[in-house]
Amino acid sequence: MPATIVLGAQWGDEGKAKVVDYLTRDADIVARFQGGANAGHTVQVGDTQFIFHLIPSGIMHPGKSCVVGNGVVLDPEAAITEIEDLAAKGISVEGRLFISQNAHVVMPYHKLFDRLGEERQGTDKLGTTGRGIGPAYRDKVERTWGIRVMDLLDEPLLQTRVAAVVEEKNRVLTRLYDHAPLDAADIIRGAVEYGQRLRMYVTDTSQLLNDALSAGKNILLEGAQGTLLDIDHGTYPFVTSSNTTAGGACTGAGIGPTRIDAVIGVTKAYTTRVGNGPFPTELTGTTGERIRELGHEYGATTGRPRRCGWFDAVIVRLAARVNGLTSLALTRLDVLDTVEKLKVCIAYRRGGDVLEEFPGDPQVLGECRPVYEEWDGWCTSTRDVRRYADLPPQARDYVERLSALSRTPVQMISVGPERDATIIMD
Ligand code: GDP
Ligand code: IMO
Ligand code: MG
Repeated sequence: MPATIVLGAQWGDEGKAKVVDYLTRDADIVARFQGGANAGHTVQVGDTQFIFHLIPSGIMHPGKSCVVGNGVVLDPEAAITEIEDLAAKGISVEGRLFISQNAHVVMPYHKLFDRLGEERQGTDKLGTTGRGIGPAYRDKVERTWGIRVMDLLDEPLLQTRVAAVVEEKNRVLTRLYDHAPLDAADIIRGAVEYGQRLRMYVTDTSQLLNDALSAGKNILLEGAQGTLLDIDHGTYPFVTSSNTTAGGACTGAGIGPTRIDAVIGVTKAYTTRVGNGPFPTELTGTTGERIRELGHEYGATTGRPRRCGWFDAVIVRLAARVNGLTSLALTRLDVLDTVEKLKVCIAYRRGGDVLEEFPGDPQVLGECRPVYEEWDGWCTSTRDVRRYADLPPQARDYVERLSALSRTPVQMISVGPERDATIIMD
């Protein structure tokens, strides 16, 4: 594998963590490269379920190292909570968790601005996770106000720098939002304490990852969110604030593109989306509700109901293109086990035109209607199937059609949340 990227090919929550957890058996290191605690990555091992927001999903494997790369925006409070929760379950991260010194920090005011910004937008809001992601990336790119993980380790610097940043934030808070000012001393105290708690994990993770590759180690790069939430290639402005696509893995982990061997796009056998924004194959009626209940489609971070719809090959073709996907991991096939009639969107119709490729212009997208192909469901349980040949013929036809429409081979099929509920293709 040497360096394999696993990323979402839809709007997030595709089951990336399940795939990463499965593949970690052959990896030495698992690294997150973008996003932050907006991610909710569920791993089920036996009867125990873990939801990771910041720590890579490979941490469940004893002895494997995990990296939080420079492209992540790190909420120290969330990171510490996660480390403590793991410890309470008997899983120690000591000596195998590494956090990039260059990663930017999600500060308390970022979360506040995320909430206030959304409130201000009213019905036009993006529907963010409220984890301070946009404001933290804004400060990173804006340059003047960003705080990095390495700054948390430098108390004298924190004293002056955070004081200046909070002064600026208070100007905006009080004048623009009519909000009470924040207490700089409080925020500095918190930042110093977070630095003390996290110091042992902080290092140059780009160096660590490159050294590991040179030593012949295998690295899994774990994407967060999904291709359609990418800041450049997604359904802007209803996206997240980072590059969720394959290029983001290189910049966000500090490794060169020549070191990447494979890019696995994770996709559900249907489509979901949380938050606002376009969703051409959304099912707003009873079928959508049925899929939501069958799949327990509720957000792992916010608990919000996920919007559900049919598989959309147009968006997965976009994912194949912008990520250079080498294969697909198809998850949640089992959720469709009892659905009698299935639809697959093969293209969009706009007026008299048929569009095979995803339109970048939201106005054009708004005028598009899905062109569907209808399929008979297999109406039998796939939960215990472990070999492709043992899937019902209709399920195999469905998988092969999705693969052909996506122009990408399927490498893995998931038929349940558990590690072993996995079919590997020959
Ligand atoms: P991620 O953000 O892409 O890692 O995905 P989430 O963890 O947010 O959501 C995926 C959900 O689907 C989790 O509850 C997983 O346990 C579950 N899951 C993953 N693969 C399968 C599968 O093949 N079948 C079923 N029924 N559930 C799955
Ligand atoms: P994982 O990694 C699904 C969505 C939010 C919102 C938009 C912007 O679990 O797949 P943000 O808080 O990032 O500013 O919100 O992006 N979103 C996700 N949707 N899965 C995620 O992560 C998401 N992370 C953010 O719902 O629409
Ligand atoms: Mg998720």
